[in-house]
Amino acid sequence: LVKFPSPCAAVRSFVRSQKNHTLIFTKENTIRNCSCSVDIRDCDYCLANLMCNCKTVLPSTMEKTTYSNHLTIWFTDTSVLEMLLNFTRVWDLKLSFCGTTPLPTEYLAIWGLRKLRVNKVKGRFPEQSVTISSSSNNEKEDSLAMHNKDRQMLVYISFLDTSLFNGYSLLKSYSVENVSSITEHFPSLLYSDVFSTSDNKSYVVTFIY
Ligand SMILES: *[C@@H]1O[C@H](CO)[C@@H](O)[C@H](O)[C@H]1NC(C)=O
Ligand SMILES: *[C@@H]1O[C@H](CO)[C@@H](O)[C@H](O)[C@H]1NC(C)=O
Ligand SMILES: *[C@@H]1O[C@H](CO)[C@@H](O)[C@H](O)[C@H]1NC(C)=O
Ligand SMILES: *[C@@H]1O[C@H](CO)[C@@H](O)[C@H](O)[C@H]1NC(C)=O
Ligand SMILES: *[C@@H]1O[C@H](CO)[C@@H](O)[C@H](O)[C@H]1NC(C)=O
Repeated sequence: LVKFPSPCAAVRSFVRSQKNHTLIFTKENTIRNCSCSVDIRDCDYCLANLMCNCKTVLPSTMEKTTYSNHLTIWFTDTSVLEMLLNFTRVWDLKLSFCGTTPLPTEYLAIWGLRKLRVNKVKGRFPEQSVTISSSSNNEKEDSLAMHNKDRQMLVYISFLDTSLFNGYSLLKSYSVENVSSITEHFPSLLYSDVFSTSDNKSYVVTFIY
């Protein structure tokens, strides 16, 4: 158990009224899931352990979750990121790469993503962001779906190329809206077997690379 030195205790009581956000980080095969009331500098594991309320998560007990608040993930390799993110529902996400080994190209599918912030090359490159939709009317409701004029369910799905964290290149995104069938629109898309073909939905498909 960590004992909090008094300066931290003072900060903790000062910020108690603020809304907490979720920070998940991985270090030496350990996954920590934290609730933080202050912003912690990226990849500062010690400070996160000190300032946030963190629990260790066992990979075997991890389930696909919906994150209705802002989620930050610090990661060092794709295997853990994939466990945490592939086919998870999160609308406001920040990803910070804290490793040094270049990442392979893998594609992660994320449901409901509207805002993404990316911090790559271990902070030696300015933070970049992508806003897929700035509509915030459903922030409180289901973070995934809302109804458009045609009374169809609007569903956001994003595909993120994990190799984007390697270089100094600009973060790019490309969205295709009003997709009624992902399998018909993108026959060779990865994971297309996951998407049902005949449903009453309008997809916004975004590629982030
Ligand atoms: C992290 O904690 C939040 C609640 O604080 C929970 O909703 C979420 O499922 C947890 N995520 C993991 C991967 O354990
Ligand atoms: C917010 O996080 C702090 C620790 O950072 C914790 O003590 C407090 O209970 C949390 N508040 C809520 C509402 O979860
Ligand atoms: C993501 O999930 C899909 C469907 O479960 C799976 O086929 C794919 O291998 C996963 N991708 C990664 C990079 O984990
Ligand atoms: C599609 O679903 C919406 C509710 O999600 C419903 O109001 C509408 O009638 C449905 N349309 C068709 C053609 O099934
Ligand atoms: C969306 O697609 C449907 C049929 O695929 C079409 O009737 C409708 O006009 C399109 N809406 C927009 C906003 O492009």
